[in-house]
Order: sequence, then structure tokens, then C-alpha cells
Amino acid sequence: MWLPLLLGALLWAALWWFRDRQSLPASDAFVFITGCDSGFGRLLALRLDQKGFRVLASCLTPSGAENLQQVASSRLHTTLLDVTDPQSVRQAAKWVETRVGEAGLFGLVNNAGVAGIIGPTPWLTQDDFHRVLSVNTLGPIGVTLALLPLLQQAQGRVVNITSVLGRLAASGGGYCVSKFGLEAFSDSLRRDVAPFGVQVSIVEPGFFQTPVTCLESLENSLQACWARLPLSTQARYGEAFLTKYLKVQRHIINLLCDPDLTKVSRCLEHALTARHPRTRYSPGWDAKLLWLPASYLPACLVDAALGWVLPKPAQPAY
Ligand SMILES: NC(=O)c1ccc[n+]([C@@H]2O[C@H](COP(=O)([O-])OP(=O)(O)OC[C@H]3O[C@@H](n4cnc5c(N)ncnc54)[C@H](OP(=O)(O)O)[C@@H]3O)[C@@H](O)[C@H]2O)c1
Repeated sequence: MWLPLLLGALLWAALWWFRDRQSLPASDAFVFITGCDSGFGRLLALRLDQKGFRVLASCLTPSGAENLQQVASSRLHTTLLDVTDPQSVRQAAKWVETRVGEAGLFGLVNNAGVAGIIGPTPWLTQDDFHRVLSVNTLGPIGVTLALLPLLQQAQGRVVNITSVLGRLAASGGGYCVSKFGLEAFSDSLRRDVAPFGVQVSIVEPGFFQTPVTCLESLENSLQACWARLPLSTQARYGEAFLTKYLKVQRHIINLLCDPDLTKVSRCLEHALTARHPRTRYSPGWDAKLLWLPASYLPACLVDAALGWVLPKPAQPAY
């Protein structure tokens, strides 16, 4: 009884492994990446450039673009793009169209993102959410829609970088909301563009050492958020709440952040070069062993665990 089951499982795993490792032939296809100033985007641009792809790298700042251009080959071209600005998105799409010509666009990697304020929801304003959602969710939606005709022309691929925090909302703030939104967009897009030969993958990294997880800027933004709270709210939480919240955040970042960004870029490369790209990738040990398993647990268990880790307000009762 058990032996056939075990053999069946082994055969299935071997076939999956063999299928997963099949690559497309080496290619000089066009790939457009957003947010190449730093982090995963910059690393991916350079790695794809080395592999012979014609990389169209968009950066938020002129210094980011110059810096990337200096270390890349002459095949890589940069442009400026602010994904929150529809005019900037239109200009970038026109630029891509001119570059790719009849070949169309083989790859679009929606990488640009910001952390925003990570903190207790009652401290935030609608604008705080809006700022993060406009970069992390509406930005990739706008860029994808603008480039879809070129992607269909090349029967290409869209790779959206979400996060494990798009599977489990472990913190307050717009970040988790924005990444859940991008997950939903990616799922519906995948089904809607499959008939046109366009494939969609989602990369959900765990915690990695990049500017998005820079402790100093996370702490500064939370402290600024605290400073603008009415005195009555500050009194309700107590100064000790803020201190402990910052301490927990520091511990989590120090414990979980992985310095090896190639774990993420290898997944992004697989999504672009494999014959059969996966629907989802989860780079990082914390993604595989902590966040994703936790996302399947009953909400009451997750709430209890996070409630135990996070500080309690000094005067919760009105
Ligand atoms: N690091 C992690 O632990 C982690 C985990 C899961 C998911 N992610 C996601 O991975 C992606 C890349 O982040 P990263 O970790 O590599 O951090 P990063 O180095 O800060 O990369 C984000 C990039 O997006 C750019 N950007 C910010 N606002 C933009 C805008 N309005 N328009 C266009 N570009 C904009 C940034 O430019 P500037 O550098 O000029 O600001 C930066 O180049 C993000 O979507 C992030 O949410 C990161």
C-alpha cells in the first residue's frame, strides 16, 4: 500500500525537478525592469546584462541610472521612471516601444517598491496608505497595462515582486495591503493573458538586506509618525510602547534579514529563462520556514503569536 504511494511521489518529484530545470535557449531578448537604482532591481539588471539580455533598466533618480550605466555593458540602457506618475509611465512605455521595435518586449519585472510607515494602524492616515499603494500596487498595474501590447507581441513574461507580507499581514501600515493587492492583480492577470501566450510569475521574498529594510529609515518614519500623534493618543500608548515596538522591529530585521540578494535574483532569472516558469517563488529561509507556513495557520494562532511579541498600549480602555 505505502510502497506504490512512495514510488509515485518520488516519480512525481523527479518529473517536476526535470521540468523545472529546462531552460529556454540563450537569448538577447528585451527585458524592462523598474526600480533599478538599488537592491534586487539593480542586481537583476546587471546579471541579465551579463547573460546577454538587452536590459532596459528604469531608475527613479538620474544618479541611480548613471551609476548603473557605468558598471553595465553598452547593451544595457537606462531611463528615468516614477511609477506613480502616469506621464512618466507613458514616456517610459514609448521609450521601450522605440527600443524593442518589431521584437516586442519579452520580460517586464515590476520591482520598484517602498516600505512606507510600518507601525500600528491607528497611528496612520489615509495618505500614508495612499503613498505606499501608489508605488507598490497602482505603479506596477499602470506599468503592466502600458506595456501589455508589447509583451503580447513577444509572447513574453511578467514578473511581479510582492513579498511574504503579501501572504501574511504581520505588520500595520500600507506595505502588507499593497503587496496583497499586487498578489491579487498578478493572479487575475495570469489567467487573463495566458490565452495570448504571456506568462505571469510572482516572487515573494522573505526579509533581505536592502534599502527597503533599512532600520534607520524605518525607525525615523515611525518616530515621525509618533511625533505627529495627539498628546492624548501618545499618553494612551505610553512612551514605553514606542520604545518596545522599535526594539521588536530591530530584533526582527537583525534576525531575519538575509544579505545574499542572489537568492532573489536567481528566482527572477528562473522566471525569465526557464521553459516552464513557476507561478510563485519564495526566496529566503524565513519565507519558506516561517511566513508561508504561518500564513496557513488559523488566524487565532497567528494573532496570539504576534500579540505576544508586540507591546501593549499603557491605557487600552477608554
Ligand atoms: N528587501 C526585502 O526584504 C524585500 C522583501 C520582500 C519584497 N521586497 C520588494 O522588493 C522590491 C525591491 O526592493 P529592494 O528590497 O530591492 O529595495 P530597494 O533597493 O529600495 O529597491 C526599490 C527600488 O524602487 C525604487 N523606487 C522607489 N519609489 C519609486 C517610484 N515611485 N518609481 C520608481 N521606482 C521607485 C527605489 O529607488 P530609490 O533607491 O531611488 O529610492 C529603488 O531603486 C520592492 O518591491 C520591495 O517591496 C523587498
